[in-house]
Amino acid sequence: MTILWDLDPTTTESYRFALGGSVEVLGHGHAVGRSIEEGGEHLVVIGPDVALAAACELAEQLRVSHPEVGVILLRHRLEVGVLAQALRSGIREVVQADDQAALADAVRRSEALTAQLGGTTMAAAATGKVVTVFSAKGGVGKTTLATNMSAYLSSTGARTLLVDLDLMFGDVAISLQLVPTGSVMDVVAMSGNIDLEGLKSVVTRHEPSGLDVLAAPSDPGDAERIGGDVITELLRVARNHYDYVVVDTPPSFTEHVLAAFDVSDLTVLVATLDIPALKNLRIALHTLDVLGAPKETRTVLLNRADLKVGLASSDVEAALKVPVVAEVPFSLSVPAAVNRGVPLVLEEPRSAVSLAMRHFVDHEVRQRFGETIQNGAKRSFTLLRSKR
Ligand SMILES: Nc1ncnc2c1ncn2[C@@H]1O[C@H](COP(=O)(O)OP(=O)(O)OP(=O)(O)O)[C@@H](O)[C@H]1O
Ligand SMILES: [Mg+2]
Repeated sequence: MTILWDLDPTTTESYRFALGGSVEVLGHGHAVGRSIEEGGEHLVVIGPDVALAAACELAEQLRVSHPEVGVILLRHRLEVGVLAQALRSGIREVVQADDQAALADAVRRSEALTAQLGGTTMAAAATGKVVTVFSAKGGVGKTTLATNMSAYLSSTGARTLLVDLDLMFGDVAISLQLVPTGSVMDVVAMSGNIDLEGLKSVVTRHEPSGLDVLAAPSDPGDAERIGGDVITELLRVARNHYDYVVVDTPPSFTEHVLAAFDVSDLTVLVATLDIPALKNLRIALHTLDVLGAPKETRTVLLNRADLKVGLASSDVEAALKVPVVAEVPFSLSVPAAVNRGVPLVLEEPRSAVSLAMRHFVDHEVRQRFGETIQNGAKRSFTLLRSKR
């Protein structure tokens, strides 16, 4: 089925011959997005009076979320600047509005490309990865890792969303010096219909890194009004629109945390070198086993790993029979950066803590999900797609 997005539905008769088959005429970009989410469409033709910026925005979104859907742009006149901008955004062809033969040809080419992309891109369409940072013990460094990891991912060009699921005491927003415009509580009202527009309206952009943040509610009492099913839907929708969705959690197995585990492609278990933390790590590993999470979807990171407290990471590995894949050292620059409201990994990228975190993210997250890591160069995706 083809969608024709046109501000003036009466002009659409003139394109029917070129478009053939069944055509759904829609007057607004939101309606186009919704219709595509419902599935079945493989071509969007955008009328000549729709603003170029709106057309490009839709094409950029579709390029990531539904690469199999072709976008053809109609313009009253063909201009080089418009062509360049359109093609950069992922629009397949730009056609003069009164040239029916050219439109019919463009439609044929787009259909052929869609058919070629077929099965492979349908599978790749939901490629965003959900990474949950968890520990059943408080104060081990979950928020520190989640904020730095997501700011770093975002700085590499990946579209990244950080969700604060510590719904009662979340401090992601304050750690990044953000004044949130919305929170997880606002998503409850969208339950059953969460879409990109809805998400966009509640996230707050961290400008220095380009990271989007979905903050915890400002009222701790709201936590119990948020169901686990809302979190499942939220994360499922978010991963269609972001390359990475990083989830910060409270130090307990709330229904929201369990929902996040269920959707996660990777769970990062954070521990420190003390017996209570190790006891809680054991419980977390056991819980993930009970939930049926495959062993390869979890990884253990040791924070403040260089403190001489009579335990070493090898003791952890021996006791719990899990490899410790990363060790982040202790540094007073961590709380200092939190107090300044900046992610250390961006402000002091060469510090020992930042190097350890970046190495962890590069190898345990980016590479794991198909990115090719190039030294000193911008990232290049082999599996994921970027719109920046
Ligand atoms: N590697 C480190 N070196 C020094 N201080 C650290 C390190 N990692 C975290 N911290 C500090 O430890 C404190 C707790 O960290 P953080 O808030 O990230 O833990 P958390 O696990 O999210 O805690 P909670 O369970 O309360 O949410 C913070 O003051 C943070 O600045
Ligand atoms: Mg925290």
